[in-house]
Amino acid sequence: MGFLWIKALHIFFVASWFAGLFYLPRIYVNLAMETDKGATARLLLMARKLYRFMTILAVPALVLGLWMWLGYGVGKGPGSGWMHAKLAIVVFLVLYHHGCGVLLRKFEQGANTHSHKWYRWFNEAPTLGLLGAVVLVVLKPF
Ligand code: HEM
Repeated sequence: MGFLWIKALHIFFVASWFAGLFYLPRIYVNLAMETDKGATARLLLMARKLYRFMTILAVPALVLGLWMWLGYGVGKGPGSGWMHAKLAIVVFLVLYHHGCGVLLRKFEQGANTHSHKWYRWFNEAPTLGLLGAVVLVVLKPF
């Protein structure tokens, strides 16, 4: 498959993965405020399905990125500081994704300890990650 096809699909899966990274913590904001049992059960179901789906979408996003890096050598060799910085952001995003799963299990056990305000701030992290990764990969500043 041509490099540009891989890049196009990489962007497609990254965008789809981020739909989940942006929306799942919004469900947590609502879960943290909800007191009605029926509504909580519905939100938990939505969260569980979204987490499963975004985990599936993250895999091709990362594999296609690794393919361009290790297979085609883009971001390897001298002048690839941007790639290392981007990989640091990717590690952060994967940990954030995993953290979302941990928080989901807490909600399922009725053991959430954070306020809806905390989740509103938590929700901002992937926005910064996306901005950083896109700036690094497009401008390649170092
Ligand atoms: C294992 C993880 C990843 C690796 C190894 C990787 C690697 C790459 C490589 C080598 C390119 C091609 C750059 C070029 O053509 O100059 C690329 C493009 C791109 N990546 Fe990733 N990537 C990964 C994850 C991500 C993530 C998490 C995001 C978003 C937050 C992202 C956003 C983008 C974008 C927007 C482009 C297109 C830039 C352009 O048009 O040149 N990537 N990636």
